[in-house]
Amino acid sequence: MRGPRTGRTERTQVGIVGAGPAGLLLSHLLALRGIDSVLVELRSRAYCEARQRAGVLEQGSVDLLRAAGLTGRLDTEGLEHGGIYLQFGGERQHVDFRELTGGRTVTVYAQTEVVKDLIAARLAAGAAIEFEVTDTEVADLETDRPVLRYTSADGVRHEVTCDAIAGCDGFHGICRPAIPAALRTVREREYPYAWLGILARVAPSTDELIYAHHPRGFALHSLRSPQVSRLYLQVPPGTDVAGWPDDKVWAELQLRLGLPGWDLKEGPVLEKSVTPMRSFVSEPMRHGRLFLAGDSAHIVPPTGAKGLNLALADVAMLADALGGLLAGRADLADAYSATCLERVWRSTHFSWWMTTMLHASPGADEMEAQLQLSQLRYVTSSRAAATSLAENYTGYPPLRAGAGLG
Ligand code: FAD
Ligand code: DHB
Repeated sequence: MRGPRTGRTERTQVGIVGAGPAGLLLSHLLALRGIDSVLVELRSRAYCEARQRAGVLEQGSVDLLRAAGLTGRLDTEGLEHGGIYLQFGGERQHVDFRELTGGRTVTVYAQTEVVKDLIAARLAAGAAIEFEVTDTEVADLETDRPVLRYTSADGVRHEVTCDAIAGCDGFHGICRPAIPAALRTVREREYPYAWLGILARVAPSTDELIYAHHPRGFALHSLRSPQVSRLYLQVPPGTDVAGWPDDKVWAELQLRLGLPGWDLKEGPVLEKSVTPMRSFVSEPMRHGRLFLAGDSAHIVPPTGAKGLNLALADVAMLADALGGLLAGRADLADAYSATCLERVWRSTHFSWWMTTMLHASPGADEMEAQLQLSQLRYVTSSRAAATSLAENYTGYPPLRAGAGLG
């Protein structure tokens, strides 16, 4: 095997590892503040743009992308939703976010599209995104000149001296493990189920998302556009998609989502994959001049659509923190981890709550099923309970006691 070609030494203000939504938006927000960054990514541009993941943006995420000038397709193709349906015990109930929260909504706009918009904006601004790098390393994190090393696609080894490094490299990245284990506290929960997701070329059979509790397991009807639907089924962890031919997926969706007088339309399956379900929080989100953001620091199970929104909220905070730090003010950088973790834990709780209310645990008894059904009846009949769901789903800035509840 040939080793990397002669090394190159470079300088930037912020080294960013990972061109997912977190790393891309951070490099864009820093550029708006006149701050240089180098962004390195393991995968190809095509892979990053095609990776099927989240689909729902909180109102605050839409506002953030708009404020950063990333409008255009989001405004024309994003589908604004004012609520969701919860289905259980043979009934389908609407939770009206607009009415319950004084007008707050969410927007269906796929993560693939957010990533495409961000990559296009960065490249149009002349930024270099290094795709398909290997052997990424971060070092000297406890100094004020941390170093980012990587081998670019052409085989050249780079060493970039930075003022700060942002670890936006997802759950399996190298940045979180670069923090000494003794300084990290991890809280984690694995769930005894996974999601099998399909993307199908068929008009959605619903105007808003349907979250369905069913004795056979959870199902979700989401959408991507007026022509493309996104649907999910609860399956056992480790399920192989090979065991789920398209006919079997549609038959199971029909069983779990079906209601008399309502039709689930079927169409060609464009993509099919299985996602594990995990809650994971690693604290703190900063070590010296290394700042973690998004999935590199925390994972939520997908029920409730929080993962992408948390990643965007982290980097909005981080751009301000780094702006201050590079101008000689450390207050926001010092507060970064604690400030983010407050929102992270709220979303971690909400995602866990939605997940446990809607999924059938293997071996669960009738007691558990009745408790879930009672909770579902409560959130669809009590205004206070419905408002809590609506407030969490649409996203809101966590309030601290003493900061005023009025
Ligand atoms: P990522 O999107 O994971 O981006 C990290 C990037 O870092 C990747 O591009 C990766 O290739 C790169 N990277 C990793 N290691 C290195 C390295 N050593 N050097 C350079 N680059 C590196 N959330 C929802 O809300 N709803 C959903 O339906 C949903 N579905 C999901 C399905 C799957 C399979 C997964 C994995 C996640 C899903 N999520 C979902 C979560 C959501 O997509 C994530 O929260 C979101 O992608 C987080 O963005 P990020 O930028 O922090 O991380
Ligand atoms: C989608 C994913 C989610 O996890 C969710 O709660 C709602 C929608 C989606 O991919 O569309």
